[in-house]
Amino acid sequence: MTQSSPTQLPAGLDPALVPRHVACVMDGNGRWASRRGLPRTEGHAAGEAALFDVVEGALEIGIQWLTMFAFSTENWRRPRDEVRYLMGFNESLLVRRRDELNDMGVRIRFAGRRDWRVPRRVLRRMDESTALTERNRRMTLTMAFNYGGRAEIVDAVRALVAQGARPDRIDERAIASHLYFPDHPDPDLVVRTSGEYRISNFLLWELAYSEMVFSDVLWPDFRRQDLFDAVAEYQRRERRYGGVAE
Ligand code: IPE
Ligand code: IPE
Ligand code: MG
Repeated sequence: MTQSSPTQLPAGLDPALVPRHVACVMDGNGRWASRRGLPRTEGHAAGEAALFDVVEGALEIGIQWLTMFAFSTENWRRPRDEVRYLMGFNESLLVRRRDELNDMGVRIRFAGRRDWRVPRRVLRRMDESTALTERNRRMTLTMAFNYGGRAEIVDAVRALVAQGARPDRIDERAIASHLYFPDHPDPDLVVRTSGEYRISNFLLWELAYSEMVFSDVLWPDFRRQDLFDAVAEYQRRERRYGGVAE
């Protein structure tokens, strides 16, 4: 892995404007496989190389928080074989590659519902990976798994109600502090691959003021240079948060 100081970023990137938190909808695995006459599951398998190249690219330019959408609360609607494959694939990926992530200084976390549909052995691998890497601080890699943005907001409100919060005390700060990871900064940049222009229930609360970049590249073909291109696009944007430009 190449390591560079923030002053030596890939051509064209401004070290002063590197997004702190990048979130990514890894989409297009099925189409990538179909175009090759392969089963959809081969597209998921091919997505692993993209994931690790993006992690390395993110480290290279100093992104501190990276959140990747791996499985949504709606993805249970897929054919049973595909769901089973995805569960096993995510488990095996953690077993095979968590040491490597740990060596790179990456802290791994999982955002989503730990409900009965997620096999126990997958939950176990998640917990092991989290425990293994919990002291790492170079980058936090959050895998959104059995994650839904609406579910996250519902869970936050439920937690508040369970604590007996008074209605007039439920404000934006209270909800934000009961999301899955209250310490996550909101994403600065969201990248969605595969030419789809939608959010698909990703990080609904946190995306309020994120910059969105859409790429036509199918996820298995996505590489760090595509991430750098998205960051370059982000750096050309003007964020106003409802105010006026200076
Ligand atoms: C994204 O690729 C991976 C998951 C949702 C798990 P898709 O499987 O959605 O690929 P397409 O969109 O069908 O091509
Ligand atoms: C979003 O992609 C979920 C993940 C990438 C994990 P989908 O492929 O499930 O989204 P839709 O169905 O096209 O909106
Ligand atoms: Mg898709």
